[in-house]
Amino acid sequence: MEAAGGEGDVAAELRQRLAAGGQDHVLRFWPELDGAARRALAAELCRMDVAEINRFFRRARGDGGGAAAAAAGLDARMEPVPRDVLGSASRDRGLVPRWESRGLAEIAASRVAALLLAGGQGTRLGVPYPKGMCDVGLPSRKTLFHLQAQRLRRLQQMAEEQHGTPCHIPWYIMTSGRTMESTKEFFQKHRYFGLKKENVIFFQQGMLPALGFDGKILLEEKGKIAMAPDGNGGLYRALGSHGIMDDMERRGVRSVHVYCVDNILVKVADPRFIGFCLEKGADCGAKVVEKTNPTEPVGVVCRVDGVYQVVEYSEISLGTAQQRGPDGRLLFNAGNIANHYFTTAFLKDVVNIYEPQLQHHVAEKKIPHVDITTGQLVQPEKPNGIKMEKFVFDIFQFSKKFVVYEVLREDEFSPLKNADSQNGKDNPTTARHALMSLHHCWVLNAGGHFVDENGTRIPAIPRLKDANDLPIQCEISPLVSYGGEGLEQLVKDQEFRTPLIIDEDGIHELVNNGV
Ligand code: UD1
Repeated sequence: MEAAGGEGDVAAELRQRLAAGGQDHVLRFWPELDGAARRALAAELCRMDVAEINRFFRRARGDGGGAAAAAAGLDARMEPVPRDVLGSASRDRGLVPRWESRGLAEIAASRVAALLLAGGQGTRLGVPYPKGMCDVGLPSRKTLFHLQAQRLRRLQQMAEEQHGTPCHIPWYIMTSGRTMESTKEFFQKHRYFGLKKENVIFFQQGMLPALGFDGKILLEEKGKIAMAPDGNGGLYRALGSHGIMDDMERRGVRSVHVYCVDNILVKVADPRFIGFCLEKGADCGAKVVEKTNPTEPVGVVCRVDGVYQVVEYSEISLGTAQQRGPDGRLLFNAGNIANHYFTTAFLKDVVNIYEPQLQHHVAEKKIPHVDITTGQLVQPEKPNGIKMEKFVFDIFQFSKKFVVYEVLREDEFSPLKNADSQNGKDNPTTARHALMSLHHCWVLNAGGHFVDENGTRIPAIPRLKDANDLPIQCEISPLVSYGGEGLEQLVKDQEFRTPLIIDEDGIHELVNNGV
């Protein structure tokens, strides 16, 4: 609907359409809005399919057997992942070199893409910019985006060296209306961190309005709808609507590594994971770490009614989360670290056939909104409405061959969720320490040693004892080593003082700055 006629015509037409869906209250303050605000609101509402939103709400709330109904009695229907679909980077050590070389061969043939989910709002972290732009205070001051880009560059180089052919790993980056512009600007400013611009492809996921418990759309301001991204499962609709599957096909991509932005240790396009999935003939795979604490906020990969899915930490009961198997480990211990493998053939089916079947999950939230009767801004103290989100792993159920790949937490998982001030977990400090602790291990494993200011060797205590313990300050550029490889020639039998940085320009022992 274009504002061709007067504003009055637009409002009348909009009002009619909104009224048909019981949502015309959003125009309640129209008379008070100035021309610009009216145009912005009309444009927002024109993009919105009110009938569809109402349908989503009814389904999500369980009318006719929706997500809420499906969630009923979930605990009793859950079963752990069976052993035969599971591969492990530690228990199956002997097979890892084979998986890695299979994955690298696929990368060398330019058949692998990475896809980053970066449309979240980072509410818990509380920064006013996209999470990938976070600098957690590493000696190099690299951001999450920077580390990921350099890991991709190193992988390309490794694949090229092994196979003697130039290759590319296209990097698809999903943003939302709230993160697109700043993300793109950041990449431009940093010249795509040395990647080729044409291999970094941005696309935008959809947004949905926040609703009251009665299904009514909430207003953030008198002339503005309270909108939020439609969840990381909004990926599948966005893949179709932005022609991303066609782009993948044109480039000859067959395997896609989909991952979340906030894990500082993420092994982007991990050749071992890719190789494992290829060897198993899987169309869909999930990387997990062992969940050891029942209340850890990670989803668990499991089967429900015989079908694979992730049961989110918000959806599992404490009793079920605490159940233990005969070996004393948590029964549901396949902790989802939001690293997924999909073949493009599977993704195509999802986009073309299954996406509309995915149901929204409902999160009850405290949503600031304008009271429709008084016009006052309300800051609720308890949840007053819902946000509807699809989840990226909701497509596991459609997989014909699903596999799970278990890795060690200290090697691959340290997410950035909270601000340092909020709590002692999953914050910039824990992320920084996890990366430096891992790199410390890499140096020790490659035969290097650390010495204190007196030249005395520091004992090799490779892991942090607790969250307050400072790790050895050591950072290795991803351009030098992707996963600990290739360091012997640089560090074997040598002694280093900290902070130590190893990057493409060499080895630097910095003056201690107390990071
Ligand atoms: C996510 C996983 C959870 C896993 C945990 C590990 C989902 C739904 N849940 O939980 O199972 O154990 O990570 O750290 O994947 N995002 C979008 N668009 C959105 C919302 C989010 O792209 O609309 C992106 C975020 O930018 C982020 C990722 O999805 O990269 C995860 O989002 P977040 O809300 O942080 O998920 P968690 O609740 O931490």
